[in-house]
Amino acid sequence: MYLGLDLGTSGLKGVVIGDDHQIVASAVAELTVQRPGANASEQDPASWVAAIHQVMDQLKHRLDLKAIARIGLSGQMHGSVHLDASGRVLRPCMLWNDGRAVSQCQALMASGDDWLAHSGNLAMPGFTAPKVMWVREHEPAVFDQTAHILLPKDYLRYYLTGELATDPSDASGTLWLNPGTRAWDDLLLARAGVRREQLPQVLEGPDESGRVKAEVAAALGIQPIPVVAGGGDNACGALGLGMSESNQGFVSLGTSGVLFAVSDRHRPCPSQTVHAFAHAIPKTWHQMTVTLSAAQSLSWLASLVNRTVPDLLGALVASGKQRTPVVFLPYLNGERSPHNNPDARGLFFNLSSATDSLDMTLAVLEGVAFSMRDGQAALATAGSQIDQLTAIGGGSRSALWLQIIANVLGVDVHPLAGADQGAAVGAARLAMPDQAQAYPKAVTSAPKYPDAAARGYVDDKYRAYRALYPVCSQLGLVGQQSE
Ligand code: XUL
Repeated sequence: MYLGLDLGTSGLKGVVIGDDHQIVASAVAELTVQRPGANASEQDPASWVAAIHQVMDQLKHRLDLKAIARIGLSGQMHGSVHLDASGRVLRPCMLWNDGRAVSQCQALMASGDDWLAHSGNLAMPGFTAPKVMWVREHEPAVFDQTAHILLPKDYLRYYLTGELATDPSDASGTLWLNPGTRAWDDLLLARAGVRREQLPQVLEGPDESGRVKAEVAAALGIQPIPVVAGGGDNACGALGLGMSESNQGFVSLGTSGVLFAVSDRHRPCPSQTVHAFAHAIPKTWHQMTVTLSAAQSLSWLASLVNRTVPDLLGALVASGKQRTPVVFLPYLNGERSPHNNPDARGLFFNLSSATDSLDMTLAVLEGVAFSMRDGQAALATAGSQIDQLTAIGGGSRSALWLQIIANVLGVDVHPLAGADQGAAVGAARLAMPDQAQAYPKAVTSAPKYPDAAARGYVDDKYRAYRALYPVCSQLGLVGQQSE
């Protein structure tokens, strides 16, 4: 049996699969995000370690943990964990949706055209390199003591095995790795002011990175088994769906929203805010666009009106409402694709005294779908034409949201037939020996087809949606940057 651990933003999930890829057991431990200032988003790595123990405590009641042969790791990308020479955590981890490192991004972008040629990706504030530059400027004492910098899932590896390692899919989001060569890049390191010895070794996703230390294994109830390099959560999500070939794609409706397509080579397209990263299996790459607040927009609305997300969605379905004049921009935490602006802000537009929470819920579902349509256009320009999508993430449990996405994107959207165990399954698959690139496809249920009758309504609203951000920008409501 193989254990996949996926360190998400809202929880750490453990999934155990057998040699037949079937899920034996799964468990989740919840995590919270701290927001200690404007555009700040952090988590304490100690809470991740506590979450591993909670997950294993749950799993031990469902299977013999000693039968687990290997572990694969997946996790939220881009976070920066600073360790001193003794391995002590120096500050909370700045997460993928932390938007403070704006001027550091500008400095990287201005450092020369060769920087972009090596990174293949725009400098965006959530990425690791600018955040570490931010720490150097704002917390020099922390930076001076920083002997090692790790991505979130790689800190789990360090806790489990004592080894310092990462993989190319996750390391692509640092802006220190050249995704084309899948290796740290001296030009990128020099421009970001980071030394090679501060960074972990880069291993391919299925490679072993060490064994769980005896004392940690004993505390978790497992054998001192190998841990493989693993991958970033989106790449592992793709492997969990069996996606390893060109133009296979998914839409993910988690805290963030992602439109993802596998590619057979590194295809950078920074002008479109496309993330062109290595995949978690060797000699394969992917492109994606990222909506920073997808399902999070809905949970934000639910907490605002003192309801739960299932309650809001249930009421909307029961009402039969399919159209609303209200338009929503989902930029609650700034936006990556297509604006690359941490100061972009959300908007409800066209409210009247007749507007109710049904309108606002529907507008949120549509607004996130419109953001995905921006992503679809960006990916098409970047060479990834997606003809059908599989849907994953918490939001994909809403049949209505998937129908809206099918209508807005004009493609068939396939829901998963069973429970969505997401990136943890991909991580567990990477831990299976001799399996690379032969992962079974996910079983999906009846697709949502684009509804031709909705086309005019959807296109008109998308035009309004597109027009609003530039207006906000002209009014100076979205910070320094604009389209
Ligand atoms: C990808 C990204 C997010 C996180 C969320 O670039 O920032 O999807 O990986 O877990």
